[in-house]
Amino acid sequence: MTPPALPFNIQKLGYIEYQVTDLERSRDFYVDIIGLFETARDSERVYLRAIEDREHHCIVLKRAPRAGVAHFAFKVESEQDLDALEAHFRKLERPMRWIAAGERRAQGRTLLVQDPLGFPVAFYAKLEPVEWFLQKYHLHRHGCPTRLDHVNVLTPDAQKGYEWYCNGLGFRPAEITEGDPPESRIWASWLFRKSTVHDIAVMTGDGPAVHHAGLSLMEPMGVIRACDALAGAGYADSIERGPARHGISNALFVYVRDPDGNRFELYTGDYLTTDRNAPPVRWRLDDARRQTLWGPPPPRRWFEESMAVSSIETGEEIAKQPALMRAIPTYVS
Ligand SMILES: [Fe+2]
Repeated sequence: MTPPALPFNIQKLGYIEYQVTDLERSRDFYVDIIGLFETARDSERVYLRAIEDREHHCIVLKRAPRAGVAHFAFKVESEQDLDALEAHFRKLERPMRWIAAGERRAQGRTLLVQDPLGFPVAFYAKLEPVEWFLQKYHLHRHGCPTRLDHVNVLTPDAQKGYEWYCNGLGFRPAEITEGDPPESRIWASWLFRKSTVHDIAVMTGDGPAVHHAGLSLMEPMGVIRACDALAGAGYADSIERGPARHGISNALFVYVRDPDGNRFELYTGDYLTTDRNAPPVRWRLDDARRQTLWGPPPPRRWFEESMAVSSIETGEEIAKQPALMRAIPTYVS
């Protein structure tokens, strides 16, 4: 598939904004236990970054009455890209608005859109530079996340989601899971703009909903150190799945739930995708190695629970629509 020519250039997934009910408790969890750094805070939000970040934030914690994902955001190359995206979404008649200056911190013009899959997605070009902690080794703690790597979303029709991200936004597929022939419908896809396996994975599921965000770690022992830190601080029950290795992406991983139940993944061991025209790795839906190359099978809740998203117009949670396809369950109850 030849990538379409588009009048804008998305660089990467930039940040995700989690809704949390207790800002201080969540800040302490992500900073003291997980090893992120607090860049700034105010009464409504805490801004966090990881050790590779040279800009203000990759995770934002937002005070809210319920858990969930407020939005996730892609960084674009230039201010002109933002105008081109505005025109792009206007043609599609999608709800959108520019986030007011008072609602964003350290961040340039930001376009917030309800995308065709129903997700609240932001686009921005500028984020304030901050001190780089990569070689401040004395500050590295526990799992020590290096960067925000990806977001994983659920949508009832993942074939449609794949087509939107590839044709509508210029993403490339690294890996694909397909249903049975002859239709061979896409059940999930791992799609990138930066040269790693993904910036976003689009999976079949009740949605729109966010399954998790993935934080990269420097090396495999970071997964173990993260689990030890969680257990030592009394958060052993927050370890939801793993450590184990995915077939897809080759990632060594552990999935963690924050104090509100928001899910994230600590992730390491994937590979470069510098050849943007390489054919994607294809997996059959009935191949259990795609999910778990080795390690215990996931718990049922890993499949059945996800983070809600809201309307950018009303703020109301969007009701999840049922998935069009169901996979054979591989969970343990
Ligand atoms: Fe992931």
